[in-house]
Amino acid sequence: MDLFEYQARDMFEKHGVPVLAGAVATTPEEAKEAAERVGTASGGVTVVKAQVKTGGRGKAGGVKVAKTADEAQEHARAILGMDIKGHTVHRVMVAQGAQIAEEYYFSILLDRAERRYLAMCSVEGGVEIEQLAVERPEALARVAVDPNTGIDDAKAREIVEAAGFDADTAAKVEPVIKSLWTAYQEEDATLVEVNPLVKTEAGDIVALDGKVSLDANADFRHQDHGALEDTAATDPLEAKAKEKGLNYVKLDGSVGIIGNGAGLVMSTLDVVAYAGEEFGGQKPANFLDIGGGASAEVMADGLDVILNDPQVKSVFVNVFGGITACDAVANGIVGALDTLGDEASKPLVVRLDGNNVEEGRRILAERDHPLVTVEATMDGAARRAAELASQN
Ligand SMILES: Nc1ncnc2c1ncn2[C@@H]1O[C@H](COP(=O)(O)OP(=O)(O)OP(=O)(O)O)[C@@H](O)[C@H]1O
Ligand SMILES: [Mg+2]
Repeated sequence: MDLFEYQARDMFEKHGVPVLAGAVATTPEEAKEAAERVGTASGGVTVVKAQVKTGGRGKAGGVKVAKTADEAQEHARAILGMDIKGHTVHRVMVAQGAQIAEEYYFSILLDRAERRYLAMCSVEGGVEIEQLAVERPEALARVAVDPNTGIDDAKAREIVEAAGFDADTAAKVEPVIKSLWTAYQEEDATLVEVNPLVKTEAGDIVALDGKVSLDANADFRHQDHGALEDTAATDPLEAKAKEKGLNYVKLDGSVGIIGNGAGLVMSTLDVVAYAGEEFGGQKPANFLDIGGGASAEVMADGLDVILNDPQVKSVFVNVFGGITACDAVANGIVGALDTLGDEASKPLVVRLDGNNVEEGRRILAERDHPLVTVEATMDGAARRAAELASQN
């Protein structure tokens, strides 16, 4: 999960990274009030910054300096609603204005290929860092960081030396880099980027902009990270699936897919897309892996999500019985249909195979639900599901 700049700012502050006062606003009036508070320490000067999860905000006109609170209000009016690379601006951060003497760059990220972290640092930071990396890569220091030792005093020194800071500035930047490492490690981030990290006229080092990506695999360790999610931007069906602990991704087609095991579900998507060509280009409507224990409850939750997708015209349940045998899955499907009652209104094509398949098919045949068709093969089921989708 990527954070907004204002969230990164707050996270930095919590870990002792020097940041400036900042407040988030969703209306021009709120921005004015925020500027009145935030600007007190900087002679009324604030910077109004678009909060979107993409780079190049400044170049797009989404970062503007205001000398007064009224001006901040005007900037907010112009920036709110703006489109920056396909992202609509719904909020701005009003930040205390800094008197910048120099702009630097610092980031730390996960280097998967090398199985360690990589710190990057440059004394030439600012909005053109991507260009710098391409044109003069030697100006961007790259220092490998061992996960076992992290950024300690020696590593921080190595980074500032590689970047080429003068001794005086290096001594001030080192502790900031260590705090950024603390934030990176304690929050289980995969990226922390500060561009620009600045030296102010007064000689202080401050993180003026922040990008943070958090590792969702570590969510269980961070009760507070859930609140950082931009729920307004998530698809409501995906949000519902997540709430129920389902592995669901919304797609654009008309054939709902439920399977057990990510590999089987992925190949089901392929088979359905292929079979769908014959029926006017029917495509999968989603990815949904109900995993190993396909209980009635999980099946009901999965069907509930899929049937609530208005684009879905038919559903293909493709299960290979392994540890969870086919009879348990069949009971799951029957139980789910009973639980959903009238809410289950779209045709279901079921293909069961593997452990205890005969018993599974017998259970479905006995229940003889009007919406359920049982097919013997994956290809046959995909074809049938695509055909039903084209008819509904
Ligand atoms: N609080 C501030 N006070 C003074 N100047 C600022 C402040 N925040 C940003 N700036 C100036 O605006 C420039 C752009 O700001 P920032 O880095 O936040 O946005 P950006 O780089 O355009 O966005 P992104 O990082 O998303 O590409 C900075 O390099 C800095 O010169
Ligand atoms: Mg920036």
